[in-house]
Amino acid sequence: MNAIDLLEADHERVKAILTQLSDSTERGVKKRADLLAKLEMEITLHTQLEEEILYPAFKAAGGKEQDVMYYEAKEEHRTVDSLVLPDLKETDPGTPEFSGRVKVVKELLEHHIEEEESEMFPQARKLLGNAQLEDIGSQMEAAKAAWKKGLHGNAA
Ligand SMILES: [Fe+2]
Ligand SMILES: [Fe+2]
Repeated sequence: MNAIDLLEADHERVKAILTQLSDSTERGVKKRADLLAKLEMEITLHTQLEEEILYPAFKAAGGKEQDVMYYEAKEEHRTVDSLVLPDLKETDPGTPEFSGRVKVVKELLEHHIEEEESEMFPQARKLLGNAQLEDIGSQMEAAKAAWKKGLHGNAA
């Protein structure tokens, strides 16, 4: 599978979870907790695939403009993973505070996804070409499978 197609399919799943989360109410505490766990799982793996596989290839194939894009995207990942998501996880899902924080996470992620899909990914398609993107896509599929297997292993 083409790496960009795989990442864009992840984006669709993340956006669907974000919509469900922002449509949920303070009374749906269990639902919110489940959605948040799902969101975190999707994002953790997705970010890892981008930062370890796609982004380095994109940076290596590009020039100064791509360097800036690379660091900007990584900074956005860091904002979500290290600041916003951890705060949300510590917030009681039965409060308006949770609702407010969900709005911010949703805005940040939608902005980030939009930039990847409109700027970085089209450039990556040109710079890397189909053969390399297929190759990277296979690496990602393997990493995903191994990661999911690891999860089940831990749960057993
Ligand atoms: Fe990203
Ligand atoms: Fe992404």
